[in-house]
Amino acid sequence: MLKKVTDKQILESVNNLPVLSEVVNRSIAMLNDPACSIRDLTDLISKDQSITAKIIKMANSAFYGYPRQIRTLSEAIVILGFRQIRTLLITASASTHLNGAVEGYMISKGELWKHSYAVAYVAGLISKLSEKAKPDEAFTVGILHDIGKLILGNFLKGSYNEVVELANEHKINFAIAEERLLGIHHAEVGGRILEKWNFPEFMAFAVRKHHNPLESDDNKALIGIVNLADTWVREFGIGIGNNEDSESLEEFIIKELGIDETVKKHVEEYLSSEMTQMGDLFPDDNKSVKLVEISEQ
Ligand SMILES: [Fe+2]
Ligand SMILES: [Fe+2]
Repeated sequence: MLKKVTDKQILESVNNLPVLSEVVNRSIAMLNDPACSIRDLTDLISKDQSITAKIIKMANSAFYGYPRQIRTLSEAIVILGFRQIRTLLITASASTHLNGAVEGYMISKGELWKHSYAVAYVAGLISKLSEKAKPDEAFTVGILHDIGKLILGNFLKGSYNEVVELANEHKINFAIAEERLLGIHHAEVGGRILEKWNFPEFMAFAVRKHHNPLESDDNKALIGIVNLADTWVREFGIGIGNNEDSESLEEFIIKELGIDETVKKHVEEYLSSEMTQMGDLFPDDNKSVKLVEISEQ
């Protein structure tokens, strides 16, 4: 039987969650400094070889459409620019948090990370197509949208089915069922994590509302885009756990964004080739990470 989670328990859990990474935090602070130099930034990020390798891998995604292969970190910074590098830094370090199993939600190792990356990628694509939100911001919110599950999962252990049953029985959104049983849902917890990590308020808000895109006028497009990306990614087979949105908002959001329904097919194709191309980012248990680490000259 599930018990309500207290505010104090959530606060403690959020405070205990490790920060993204020391190198990433310092790099982001450096990016915020107008005097930031590419050389200093490269030196700093290169201290973390795993993050560096992931950034180079992602910089070569078709999402950025650079025609030649990017081989070094400094090349990636010069070609993609500071804005995209910030997104890739966050993505690379969040992957470590998101890659583990989340027992409470019956999510096995690697699943949450794969789902989050797919949602981020699709949210970025929809932003480009609709021109209603900034692709890098939609990507970042997509990466972090379900991060609250890392914390709430600890309070759900062994009782996940209670939430699923309540949602099915009352035909309510999964997040609402979580809130009824635990007093809080994973999206709200995620918003609190982003605040704690000093993300801009609108991003924390977008994570908070990703299952209730109609509840607010602020940032409606960004929240709608992430919700739609989440729905589509589930349909494309990269879902986690239970279907979270019992009532499909899909049609409404598509109309609001002014995109053509036929884009869904193309998005699915793009996503499938992206996931294949980025394969090394999603190692399964039997495979070790094969990211090529290329040192700076
Ligand atoms: Fe969610
Ligand atoms: Fe999700």
